[in-house]
Amino acid sequence: MGHVLVTGATGGIGTALVGALVKAGHQVTAVGRGVGRLGVPGIEADLAEPGTIAAAVGELGDVQALVHCAGVSPIAAVADTDPETWERVLAVNVASAAELVRLALPGLRRSRGHVIFVNASPGMTGVPRWSAFVGSKAALRELADSLREEEAAHGVRVTTVYPAATATELLREVRSAFGRPYDPERCIRPETLAEMVVWVLAAPADSYAAELAVVPAPR
Ligand SMILES: NC(=O)c1ccc[n+]([C@@H]2O[C@H](COP(=O)([O-])OP(=O)(O)OC[C@H]3O[C@@H](n4cnc5c(N)ncnc54)[C@H](OP(=O)(O)O)[C@@H]3O)[C@@H](O)[C@H]2O)c1
Repeated sequence: MGHVLVTGATGGIGTALVGALVKAGHQVTAVGRGVGRLGVPGIEADLAEPGTIAAAVGELGDVQALVHCAGVSPIAAVADTDPETWERVLAVNVASAAELVRLALPGLRRSRGHVIFVNASPGMTGVPRWSAFVGSKAALRELADSLREEEAAHGVRVTTVYPAATATELLREVRSAFGRPYDPERCIRPETLAEMVVWVLAAPADSYAAELAVVPAPR
C-alpha cells in the first residue's frame, strides 16, 4: 500500500481502477483532465502535451506506483490520418507515459516502486485502420521493456498489462467504427481488470508479473 499515480482515471477502466486501489488501501492521485471530480486528489494535465506535464505535476515526492491507463484510439486508414492525429495518439498513449515515469522515478526508486502500463489486447498487431493506436501500443511495450532493464538495478518493477475486450464506452465506439457487434456481457468487466492490476501491485518481494494478458473467461 502506498501512493499511486493513475492516468486515465476518468475513463471506464480508470474509474474502476481508482475504486479498487482505494479499496485496497492505496492513496491515489489522478493525473489528467477533469480529475477534480473524482473524489481523490487530482493533478490537472493534458497528456496530449507531454511538455506541459512537468509544470503541472510539480514535486511528486514519494510514489509507490504509476499506472498509465490513459489512451486514445482513433480509427482511420493511414491515407486519412493527419499529422495532428499521429502526434496526439503518440503523446497520450506513450510519450506522456515516458514523461510521467521520468518525473516519478526519484520517488519510485526510493520506494522500489512499480510502473504499470495498460497496453492493448494480447497479440494485437497489423490492424488495418488502426495504425496510430496499434503503433503507439507497440511503442508502449518497448518503453516498458527498456525501462524494466534500465531500472532493475534501482529495484523498480515494470509491468505491461494486455487487456482483451473490456466493457467500456471506448470499446463500444471502437466496435461500432469497425462494424463489429458489442456485447458487454462477453467482455471483461472493468472492475475485474482493476482487481487484477491491484493484484499485480501486491506481488511479494521475490517476484512479480512483468507481463499480464487478461482475457474473458470462457462462458
Ligand atoms: N476497453 C477495452 O476494451 C480496452 C482493451 C485493451 C486496452 N484498453 C486500454 O485501456 C485504457 C483505458 O481504456 P478505456 O476503455 O477505459 O477508455 P476510456 O474510457 O476512453 O478512457 C480513456 C482515458 O484516457 C484519458 N485521456 C484521453 N486523452 C487524454 C488527454 N489528452 N489527457 C489526459 N487524459 C486523456 C481519458 O480522459 P478524458 O476524459 O479527459 O478524455 C480517459 O480517462 C486505454 O489505454 C486503452 O487503450 C482498453
